[in-house]
Amino acid sequence: MIKPDGLSGNYKEKIKEAILGSGFDIIEEAVVHLDAERASLFYAEHADRSFFNSLVKYMTSGPVCAMVLESPDAISRWRNLIGPTDARKAKTSHPDSIRAMCGLDSEKNCVHGSDSPQSAAREISFFFRDDKSEALEHDEL
Ligand code: PPS
Repeated sequence: MIKPDGLSGNYKEKIKEAILGSGFDIIEEAVVHLDAERASLFYAEHADRSFFNSLVKYMTSGPVCAMVLESPDAISRWRNLIGPTDARKAKTSHPDSIRAMCGLDSEKNCVHGSDSPQSAAREISFFFRDDKSEALEHDEL
């Protein structure tokens, strides 16, 4: 997922170039503006953390671009490509990563990656296979 700062900073095409240049196929893609209820659901596992309200506010501040990426070892390869959560650390430890390129800190870190096959399945359903959700109408690409 490209987060609001990635889209508002006009990094979408650069990020897609990095994705395709690294050998991923983009299977699905949708621009979505999350509301607070949906963003809270997406990050439900972090509901007890001190930054949760701030994270939800940020994730509803503008549209996001959800994508389904396919490749061998897609989860570990994508998380390696995006770099560590804190974009400030990414700039020193992973200077070629996507978060080093366009992130700012641990909140505005430009992109998200599923951390397991289970979370990938849940997050793909969340954005692409949840017919019950009126809040997830896709914007035009
Ligand atoms: S991880 O990958 O789960 O270990 O990373 P973690 O540090 O646990 O962070 C989980 C998500 O919370 C976001 N985050 C924050 N948001 C706002 N403020 C602060 N301080 C903060 N720290 C972490 C972080 O961007 C992670 O979001 P995703 O979308 O999962 O990368």
